[in-house]
Amino acid sequence: MAEGPIVKLSDVWKVYLVGKVEYPALKGVSMEVERGEFLCITGASGSGKSTLLNVMGALDRPTKGEVFFENIPLSRLSSDKLAELRNRRIGFVFQTFNLLNHLTVVENVELPMIALGIPPKKRRERAIEILSKFLSHTVIYKRPLELSGGEQQRVAIARALANDPDVILADEPTGNLDSYNAHLIAKIFKELRDEGKTIVMVTHNIELTDYADRIAKLRDGQIVEIIKR
Ligand SMILES: Nc1ncnc2c1ncn2[C@@H]1O[C@H](COP(=O)(O)OP(=O)(O)OP(=O)(O)O)[C@@H](O)[C@H]1O
Ligand SMILES: [Mg+2]
Repeated sequence: MAEGPIVKLSDVWKVYLVGKVEYPALKGVSMEVERGEFLCITGASGSGKSTLLNVMGALDRPTKGEVFFENIPLSRLSSDKLAELRNRRIGFVFQTFNLLNHLTVVENVELPMIALGIPPKKRRERAIEILSKFLSHTVIYKRPLELSGGEQQRVAIARALANDPDVILADEPTGNLDSYNAHLIAKIFKELRDEGKTIVMVTHNIELTDYADRIAKLRDGQIVEIIKR
């Protein structure tokens, strides 16, 4: 296993061009995500949380600065290598679940395994095994829209775990859920952290930061505070 932080950002800037005006969404962010920690990112709307998460997860490239994944500078990787990194090492969870509604629940969880060439029978077994950790068997052959929001988000977490990633990046995963389900999802992330996963969760919900090991506060594209709990 590689030494040091699993993700490291060094003077990361993200500047969006809006018409002819440059808009800096991230202004020199330097931070580390420790292997096996549960890190929460908070901050007002527009402070740059999603931008930061997307840059961490190689969904987007910084305008300036460097992102390292296990000491590898991502700017040196081709888009194929970045896609492989995203598929094998990182799991993503979004506020709107982003499940495919024409597929069944189990097929959604199998999807990321197809790119790795895992044979159908094995895919199905593994998908069911992961799903059964979070959901009752009765939902496995339903379609996502037949499930509650809390259930859909648990399917999305199962899908994020399909290829056994090291890091899970979650952007306001509880934003569309009631308080009960929000806590349920945060507890799942804490359990995954206890099993050795690294979790980075963006949230507006201060109560949920209780589950985290550290809280990074963003303001106007800069980290203004990191609280260790
Ligand atoms: N593609 C884009 N083009 C131009 N500006 C953008 C783009 N994406 C984000 N921004 C701007 O960058 C800033 C940071 O956006 P970001 O989505 O990271 O904020 P956020 O903290 O996630 O907000 P929220 O809590 O509302 O999700 C915002 O002012 C936003 O308008
Ligand atoms: Mg956002």
